[in-house]
Amino acid sequence: MDNIKIAIQKSGRLNEDSLKILKDCGIGIDNGRDQLKASSRNFPLEVFYLRNGDIPQYLRDGVVDIAIIGENVLIEKGEDIQVAEKLGFSKCRVSLAVPKAYEYNSIEDLRGKRIATSYPNTVKNYLSKSGITADLHIINGSVEIAPNIGLADAICDIVSSGSTLFKNNLKEVEVMLSSEAVLAVSPKIQQQQQEILTKLLFRIRSVLTARQ
Ligand code: PRP
Ligand code: MG
Repeated sequence: MDNIKIAIQKSGRLNEDSLKILKDCGIGIDNGRDQLKASSRNFPLEVFYLRNGDIPQYLRDGVVDIAIIGENVLIEKGEDIQVAEKLGFSKCRVSLAVPKAYEYNSIEDLRGKRIATSYPNTVKNYLSKSGITADLHIINGSVEIAPNIGLADAICDIVSSGSTLFKNNLKEVEVMLSSEAVLAVSPKIQQQQQEILTKLLFRIRSVLTARQ
């Protein structure tokens, strides 16, 4: 039987907990986090370590069959991709924030403003519900520094503990969405891999129940 190919985040906040849930499912993986690929010794599964933002396209193309990914990334880049299960970890919000000193009253205050973000689609959709457009600056990391260096008036990014906002003298003013890690499935998954997925989901659901 062919293996099922799973993408997990190469580095960052989901990586450790993603490996942990596989481990708790009794799936042993030999690696080498430096390697971009690893196999399980006791389950028909191969792990591909990929960049978060690339994972939706890999799923879409069927290069991987499944992935552990943040819902926030799917909402931004993969609304067409199905979720098989919510995994209960890496909970966060995707929020808009402004400098602490700014007297924010409503979303109207963001009209025409410069907003730095890695989530342009999410921001655009959120603002458009209020009939607002803004000047979006897309940056891929360290977004919270943008207002301090004069690059933006506001930012939109993930908020977890809130410490990055706090350290950068920002305050959260709009929560656009809540997110957690999910198991996402390629629209191109084949029958054999679907059968392995069914077994994997059975184990994952047992682990999630035991964690409650
Ligand atoms: C993430 C995210 C926020 C921060 C939120 O950044 O982009 O900046 O974590 O977490 P907190 O509310 O607990 O502070 P990360 O540190 O992963 O780095 P990056 O932005 O450079 O990708
Ligand atoms: Mg960050």
